[in-house]
Amino acid sequence: MRTNPESLTARRDGPLKGSVRVPGDKSISHRALIIGALAVGETAISGLLEGEDVLNTAKALRALGASAERIQAGEWRVRGVGVGGFAEPAAALDFGNSGTGCRLMLGAVAGCPITATFDGDASLRQRPMQRVLEPLERIGARLLASTAGRLPLTLAGAREPIPIVFEPPVASAQLKSAVLLAGLAAPGETVVTEAEATRDHTEKMLALFGAELRVAPHGPNGRHIALAGQPELAPQPIRVPADPSSAAFPLVAALITPGSEVILEGVMLNPLRAGLIATLREMGASIEQLAAGQEGGEDVADLRVRRSALRGVEVPAARAPAMIDEYPVLAVAAAFAEGRTVMRGLKELRVKESDRLAATAGLLRGNGIAVEIEGDDLIVEGKGRAAGGGLVATDMDHRIAMAALVMGLASERPVKIDDASFIATSFPGFVELMRGLGADLC
Ligand code: S3P
Repeated sequence: MRTNPESLTARRDGPLKGSVRVPGDKSISHRALIIGALAVGETAISGLLEGEDVLNTAKALRALGASAERIQAGEWRVRGVGVGGFAEPAAALDFGNSGTGCRLMLGAVAGCPITATFDGDASLRQRPMQRVLEPLERIGARLLASTAGRLPLTLAGAREPIPIVFEPPVASAQLKSAVLLAGLAAPGETVVTEAEATRDHTEKMLALFGAELRVAPHGPNGRHIALAGQPELAPQPIRVPADPSSAAFPLVAALITPGSEVILEGVMLNPLRAGLIATLREMGASIEQLAAGQEGGEDVADLRVRRSALRGVEVPAARAPAMIDEYPVLAVAAAFAEGRTVMRGLKELRVKESDRLAATAGLLRGNGIAVEIEGDDLIVEGKGRAAGGGLVATDMDHRIAMAALVMGLASERPVKIDDASFIATSFPGFVELMRGLGADLC
């Protein structure tokens, strides 16, 4: 909770109508700044997400000697210092609410001969960093201070980074990316073998900047990634496509609000991010792909979404990495579906901005939906409607806040959240965008 929490209420009103573009992708925005800062020369970025998480990464990069300058809305220039070229920061780096910013930057700093302190807000201070520190210590970084692998922590980067072969124990793009970013500074080949493929934006952007990278399938769902160390990264212009994880909120709102028809413009359709759309289509959602193209090396398309009668489905654990951030809003869709939806393999949700498994169950339960957590599975009994009337504790979690508001737009009684301020970490302008479609949020 912030010192000035902002409560907000969503009420059922008319249909949602209109065409909107959600802000730039958060994962790509962090990477554009960080990889730009490790390149030699100037990287021009357009469509950058100007959410608090990404702005904190820009601030950290400036403290490390790179320049990251805003030209106008979404348009940024980053002047990089080269791989291994960060300077020691004068003060602790504050990543606010962002696990991605913090973990990726731990990797980038681990390959530089400097010492830096990493910190964040009360939510980030509870999140596990040990999973990242373990491989970074193998690369040669040293943890100088931390309590139980949590923030605040002080890391001394490797003077002579060692290339490692790493098998992430959990499916995490943040973990993979931290190792690859540290591996940039090591001579020889850094290898990451993922049992389950996770979002591949780091690999794609490093390759775009000229790094030598071999990616091959590994087992039924995995990937083997080999990065040749010490490349000279050459700046490339980056156009950041619209964030599918943000588009998920107006998308589900349109599916469950009677009479709605909404177009979401330029949504990134990277297959490793598209699990929600696949799942909603299985549930009977009308999501039509209109004009398609490419932006920033990713497939994008306009999506036309119409209110749909949804039915419960089983979502396999293997799909979790491709929709890890979308479960709170999928659970809302499941509440408005007819029948049971079972979402399997959600262990990682427990270590997000909040314990998102518990928070999602609490959000539904408090609004009249029967829901169970069995092991790592979430089970929602959909009745095609929700009573609403709940006050949702958002627990410093932007996605719980937005999912709860989406629920309120179609529930019989209003849904109130205790604090909308964290929405600005990933989706600045959410409330205005939703109001523009006709949502009653006040
Ligand atoms: C992200 C990876 C995911 C996701 C987060 C963004 C990234 O986290 O939840 O919002 O940009 O790499 P994990 O890698 O911890 O699963």
